[in-house]
Amino acid sequence: MVRYTATDDEQEEILQREYMEKAALHVAALEKELGRAPKGCVVTFGCQMNARDSEKLSGILAKIGYTLTESEEDADLVLYNTCTVRDNANQRVYGRLGYLNSLKKKKSHLRVILCGCMMQEASVIDKIKKSYRFVDLLFGTHNIFKFAQLLVTMYENQEMIVDIWQETDQIVEKLPVNRKYFYKSGINIMFGCNNFCSYCIVPYVRGRERSRDPKEILREIERLVDDGVVEIMLLGQNVNSYGKNLEEPITFAALLREVEKIEGLKRIRFMTSHPKDLSDELIAVMRDSKKICRHLHLPVQAGSNRILQAMNRKYTKEQYLSLVDKIRTAIPDMSITTDIIVGFPGETLADVEETMDVVRKVQYDNAFTFIYSKRTGTPAAAMEDQVPEAVVKEGFDKLLKVVQDTARERAALLQGKVLEALVEEVNDQDASLVTGRLSNNMLVHFPADASMIGKIVKVSLDTCHGFYYTGHIVD
Ligand code: 5AD
Ligand code: SF4
Repeated sequence: MVRYTATDDEQEEILQREYMEKAALHVAALEKELGRAPKGCVVTFGCQMNARDSEKLSGILAKIGYTLTESEEDADLVLYNTCTVRDNANQRVYGRLGYLNSLKKKKSHLRVILCGCMMQEASVIDKIKKSYRFVDLLFGTHNIFKFAQLLVTMYENQEMIVDIWQETDQIVEKLPVNRKYFYKSGINIMFGCNNFCSYCIVPYVRGRERSRDPKEILREIERLVDDGVVEIMLLGQNVNSYGKNLEEPITFAALLREVEKIEGLKRIRFMTSHPKDLSDELIAVMRDSKKICRHLHLPVQAGSNRILQAMNRKYTKEQYLSLVDKIRTAIPDMSITTDIIVGFPGETLADVEETMDVVRKVQYDNAFTFIYSKRTGTPAAAMEDQVPEAVVKEGFDKLLKVVQDTARERAALLQGKVLEALVEEVNDQDASLVTGRLSNNMLVHFPADASMIGKIVKVSLDTCHGFYYTGHIVD
C-alpha cells in the first residue's frame, strides 16, 4: 500500500486550489450566459459523516462561484451525496433521479452529480451508466478531495465522467468548508471501519480504518472555536478504536482529554461507539469532564447471543448489560441511545424478546430501530434463513412499542428540572419560540428570539411531550 507523507497531502491541497481557480473560470462563463450567478444544490442522504462531507463539497461549490440553494428546481447544478446502509436509502436516490431527469429536459445546462457511499458499489455504477445516462459525474467516498479537479474534467467533457477509487491513504485537511451552523460542527477524527459486522456494507464502501493526526484534529477544533463554534461532534464509524493504528498510538480517551482543554469550547459530543471497544479510561474521562455531553450512542443491534454472534458483534448480551451498568454507576445522568436491527437472518420472535429485554433493562432514552436490509457482498446476504416479511414486521412492531414506552418514561423523569440548552434555531412552527438542545441530546422549545442562537441558556423543562419538552428560560 502506498504511504503518503504530509507533504503529499499539502501538495494535493495546492493542486486542488489550482483546479478551483480553473473551475471558477467555467462557472464565470456560465454566469455570463445565464445573466446571473449559477446556483448549486447539495442534497445529503445518510449519516453525520456524509453531512460533514457535504459541507466540504458545498464549500468548494461556493468557492468557485455557485450560490447555494436548497431547491433542486432552481439549481443549475445538483449533487446527491448518497448513502447505501439500507436499500431504502438507495431507492430514494433512484426515485429522485427520475425527477432530476425531468428537470434536465427543461433545462439542458443542468449538471447532475452523484457521490458518496452508494457509488462504491459496482452494481450501482452499472445501473446508472445503463439507465441514467443524463448524469454528468460520478465519484465515491475516497476521492472527494478531488472534487474541484473532477468538476473541471466534467466542464471540459461531454460524456459521463466516472471516477471511483477502491481506497486511499490520503487525508486532505484544509480545503474550503461551508458550515451549515455557525455554532456547532462535526469533525472527522477517523475514516472507514475494520469491524465487519456481517450485515454491514460500510467497511466495503468506506474502506479500512484510518485515524487523523491528533494535532491536526486539535488545530481544526481551535480554528472552529475561533470562528464561533461552541459545540463539536467528533465523528468516526467506531471512535472508541481511534488512534490505535497511528505511528504514535493514542487512545480516544486521551484525545478527549486534550480536546477538553481547548478554551472557549463548551460542549463535546462523539459518534459512534462500538460497545466492544469502550474502555474504563473513556468512562473515567466522561465522568470527570465538564464539556462532554451526557449522551452516549451505544448501538446494541440485537439482544440474543446467537444473533449477536452471527452479526459478528464480538460481545454478548450480558457483557453489553454490564457495560451499561458500569457507565450508569459512574455517570448516573448519562443518557444512552442505541441502534437495533430486526429481521437478521435466522432471527426468531424469541430472539426479538431478548432484544426487548435489553431495552427494558437499559431504559434507552431513544432507540433507532431498523428492519434488516440485505446488502449484496456482505456475509449476511449469503446466509440461508432470511426471515419472512410478516415475522419481521411482527417483531418490529412489538419492539417499537417497548422502545417508545421506555423512551417516554425516561423523558418524563426530567420534567420540572432546570438544564442547560444550546439554542439552535427559531422554531419553524411558531416564530415566538426557539429550539434548544440539552446535553442529553433532547430538544426543548421555549420563548426567545433569533439573537439567542448559538448561546447556552438555563431552561426549565416545564412540560414533557413524550420526546421533547416545552419550557422557559431561567436566569
Ligand atoms: N440492515 C439494517 N440496518 C442496518 N444498519 C447497518 N446495516 C444495516 C442493514 N444491512 C443499521 C445499524 C447501524 C445503523 C447506522 O444502521 O443499526 O448501527
Ligand atoms: Fe450511509 Fe454508512 Fe455511508 Fe454513512 S457511512 S452515508 S450510514 S453508508
